[in-house]
Parts: sequence; structure tokens; C-alpha cells
Amino acid sequence: MKILFLGPPGAGKGTQAKRIGAALDIPHISTGDMLREHLAARSELGLQAEGFMKRGDLVPDELVIAMLLERTGHEDAAGGFILDGFPRNLAQAEALSVSLGGDGLDRVVVFEVDEEEIVRRISGRRGCAGGHIYHLDDHPPVREGVCDIDAAPLEQRPDDAEDVIRTRLAVYRAQTEPLIRYYQQQGRAVKIGAVGSVGEIQERILEALGG
Ligand code: AP5
Repeated sequence: MKILFLGPPGAGKGTQAKRIGAALDIPHISTGDMLREHLAARSELGLQAEGFMKRGDLVPDELVIAMLLERTGHEDAAGGFILDGFPRNLAQAEALSVSLGGDGLDRVVVFEVDEEEIVRRISGRRGCAGGHIYHLDDHPPVREGVCDIDAAPLEQRPDDAEDVIRTRLAVYRAQTEPLIRYYQQQGRAVKIGAVGSVGEIQERILEALGG
């Protein structure tokens, strides 16, 4: 199954993509995680992306599209994948559609969350370098500031600062939200209410995916 999770920053896409990917045995492909790995490694791509990410702007299409298409070509993605954070504008959606050929994506799951909850989720988010995600109130680690899984320190993402969140939300509304209509017109989009416990949302997504 080729699945896309679409929704505003902080909607819970990454949290759910990890769980659903494990449940369906398909890889979770997050362009945000990939870019953060490049940034941590100080690669050429990471250095080019850094300023855009810090401001909350989109990284230029030519960098992101090449990175994503290289990843979806890996053998582990041959049986399907969950895309999280890509595409984020029409040019990216069309590049993906061309690369997938005839059938395209099987399902686009649209996460619906109001803005107040988004800000609450993002401001309480903490994560480790290994990509494990926590929330100070809803999903705290057992030991404060330490990842339960790999014992790495938990930190706030630099782009989770309040002024950057505002830019990310504005960029989402202007460039990414129009993709909901794009996929609705293709009959691929299914909306889910993304407020509730992580387990409840997982059930809703599995139901929306038809099992
Ligand atoms: P990216 O990493 O993709 O960020 P995002 O889309 O803004 O999404 P987030 O990671 O903020 O949120 P999420 O929906 O995954 O929520 P999460 O599960 O963590 O992109 C970062 C940057 O990279 C972009 O700004 C851009 O610069 C660049 N970039 C990436 N892709 C690009 C592209 N294609 N083109 C150009 N540039 C690109 O959950 C959030 C919090 O809520 C967590 O604390 C979690 O524990 C908590 N939570 C989750 N579910 C629940 C629940 N049900 N109830 C309560 N709390 C919950």
C-alpha cells in the first residue's frame, strides 16, 4: 500500500506513521526526519536546507524531490510505504505522481486538528536524535529528559519555537492545504478526526485504510 499522511505541523503524522508502518510492515518515510539527519551529519544537503528549516519555510523542491525519490526507490519500499511530510506543494505532488506512474497513491489520510491543539502539541513535544517522539503532558518519558527507548537526551526541535511555528502553519495553509482538494478530486483522500488518544487515532486510520 502506498499511503500519504497529510496534515498540519504537530497533527500527529509522525507518531501515527511509526505505529501504522509497523502494523502494516511498510517503511515510514519522513522528509522532515531525513532532512534532520542530513543536518545532524552536516552533509551538503543538510547545510543547504538548514536556513529554510530554521525559519519554518519549505526547503527548495529540487533538493527535496530528489532526496525523496531516491528513498522510495529503495528495495524496502517496493511493497509500499507511508509518506509523512511529502508532498507539501503541487510541484512535489506532481513529481510524485509521475514517479509512481499509473496507479499513484492508494490512500491519502488527512489529519484534522484545530490550531489551539496544534500549538499545545508542538510546544510540549520533545524528541531524541533517534526520532522517538514524546509529549510533556500526554506521553512523557519515564525518566525526565531521557528517551525510554535509547536513553538519549530529549530535546525540543529548534523549529518548534513559537515564532517558527507560526511561519510553519502559514506555509502549511498557503502551500500544503490545497493538496487536500487535489487528492479529493482524485478520490484518494479520507479525512480523520485526529483529536483523541494515540490508540484511538490509530484505530481510525486503520479503519480508513480498510482494515
Ligand atoms: P516535518 O518534520 O515534516 O514537520 P511537520 O510537517 O511540521 O510535522 P511535525 O513533525 O511538526 O508534526 P507531526 O504531524 O509529525 O506530529 P508528531 O507526531 O510529532 O518538517 C520540518 C521542516 O522540514 C519543514 O518546516 C521544512 O522546512 C522541511 N521539510 C520537510 N519536508 C519537506 C518537504 N516535503 N518540502 C520542503 N521542505 C520540507 O506529534 C506532535 C506532538 O503531539 C508530539 O509531542 C506527540 O507526542 C503529540 N501527539 C501525537 N499524537 C497525539 C495525540 N493523539 N494526542 C495528544 N498528543 C499527541
